Amino acid sequence: MKRSKIAGIGHYVPERIVTNDELTRVMDTTDEWIQERTGIQERRYGQKHQETTSSMGAAATRIACERAGIEPADIDFIIFATLSPDYYFPGCGVLLQRELGITHKEVGALDVRNQCSGFVYALSIADQFVKTGMYKNVLVVGSEMHSMGLDFSTRGRNVTVIFGDGAGAAIVQPTDAPERGILTTKLHSDGTHAEKLAFINPGSHGGYHFKKMGEEIDFGYPPADTYGEIFLTPKMMQEGMYYPNMEGQFVFKMAVQKFPEVIHEALNEVGLKPSDINMLIPHQANLRISQFVQKILGLRDDQVWNNIQKFGNTTAASVPIALCEAYEAGKVKEGDLVCLAAFGSGFTWASALIRW
Ligand code: COA
Repeated sequence: MKRSKIAGIGHYVPERIVTNDELTRVMDTTDEWIQERTGIQERRYGQKHQETTSSMGAAATRIACERAGIEPADIDFIIFATLSPDYYFPGCGVLLQRELGITHKEVGALDVRNQCSGFVYALSIADQFVKTGMYKNVLVVGSEMHSMGLDFSTRGRNVTVIFGDGAGAAIVQPTDAPERGILTTKLHSDGTHAEKLAFINPGSHGGYHFKKMGEEIDFGYPPADTYGEIFLTPKMMQEGMYYPNMEGQFVFKMAVQKFPEVIHEALNEVGLKPSDINMLIPHQANLRISQFVQKILGLRDDQVWNNIQKFGNTTAASVPIALCEAYEAGKVKEGDLVCLAAFGSGFTWASALIRW
């Protein structure tokens, strides 16, 4: 079986920079609080009504294709990871296909809904398709336009200050080089705490999961024997129940446990150790989480790429944006051992080891 490799990588971030100070104009927060707890100084917001999750993904894809030496029309499978899709359905994969003018019918498109671990999961899927010989040019995209779905009042400040917009893309191809390419990927999930970091409305749940957990929440649904208003009720609109929610400290504790675990698991499988890693690209959840993981693994500063200071947490886009930046800075070179790792909503977590 052939190995697969990342043949080209690209990223796109919108022009508009939003500083912490700018956020203090609309909510009760401070630059000091945000920097101290998260390391974030600024983030990017897409141009409202001009850019979307899929259009940003397409911008990143054009660069990835150029670096891989292919045209968008050469792509034979699209995997698009996002939690902030343009539409509830259809997914961003087909919208990106249209945006890039990929008109041949042989192409397939798949959307991955794994939030922060979405890109690593998507890369793993691409790896399987390429290794088995099914596809030769698989496009993997992580893209988010969070700014269209955040609560910009003080009520939403614990979540809103963290997230930013952007996109990253990679072209995955087969390689003949025996030592190079994706060495392994590790994927995990545990839905026990699904609601601790979630965006539940609109949805078809009808309060089901909360009832099962012994909690009755009034979402304002009409009686069960009537039709209509099942997705978004007036109460949800009035009370802002259609925004993401997060139990920050709980998420933090899980993240600092799962990141090292899944990195060690991948290293053990291929008989390597943390010190062999040339570049760790952790999902940019929070600078404090990345620093904690770095310390646990005993890595130097030059072995870890962080850019959350500039972009905030871009969820499915954070790993490919960081990988692309590291590559462009000459910090990911041929022969280097690159480790991608992510943890997020679900909870889901994942890692990938790549000999570049
Ligand atoms: N500005 C100012 N104050 C804020 C604030 C903000 N943006 N957000 C929350 N606060 C307040 C809270 O209301 C609370 O006030 P209180 O003590 O008067 O009740 C106080 O700050 C502490 O809140 P808490 O949620 O306990 O803060 P924290 O130290 O846990 O930091 C996070 C919050 C979100 C930064 C932190 O928990 C975190 O980073 N968690 C991981 C999140 C993450 O990585 N998510 C993505 C996963 S992929």
